[in-house]
Amino acid sequence: MTAAGNGVRPVPAELGQVRAFWQARACGEVYAQGESLRERLEAQARARYALEPYLRPFARFEDGCGLDVLEIGVGMGADHLEWARQRPRTLTGVDLTPHAVELTRARLALDERSSRLVVTDAERLPFRDASFDLVYSWGVIHHSRTPRPPCARSSACCGRGAARV
Ligand SMILES: C[S@@+](CC[C@H](N)C(=O)[O-])C[C@H]1O[C@@H](n2cnc3c(N)ncnc32)[C@H](O)[C@@H]1O
Repeated sequence: MTAAGNGVRPVPAELGQVRAFWQARACGEVYAQGESLRERLEAQARARYALEPYLRPFARFEDGCGLDVLEIGVGMGADHLEWARQRPRTLTGVDLTPHAVELTRARLALDERSSRLVVTDAERLPFRDASFDLVYSWGVIHHSRTPRPPCARSSACCGRGAARV
């Protein structure tokens, strides 16, 4: 599957390369081993939190309870499911690639949860300022030519609370 013909907005050439890279294989997909999609997604999540034990203490998923939460760069959606499990007031996730959004949507559906998932560029977040209480992003911002625009957009979108990037 490619971004072309998917109604995905064009992006600058450098970002096009980033999109093509992650569209071909999402971050951590190498750990997604198993017969069913559920088994593959669960294997990837297990490997993720074993390999990155500092991730949960950084994210503090439990803080999302009752809040309007945005995650930037959902990837395979392991963290996004953790946010969803906290019963946020609303949950929104974005990624540059349709592949990540599809995997994340599937992962949440397997857990009977949902999120507003959008294919978009973190530098051009299509949300009003102060739309969220908590903005979270892991392993994404360094893919930008300069981290300042996505950080500024995250902060603006998160005018009511904390940006955890
Ligand atoms: C290293 S992966 C991290 C994914 C996930 N957060 C994780 O920790 O597994 C980077 C992700 O960020 C997305 N990404 C990179 N640049 C982006 C941008 N400018 N806007 C939105 N998503 C972006 C990629 O498509 C990819 O899914």
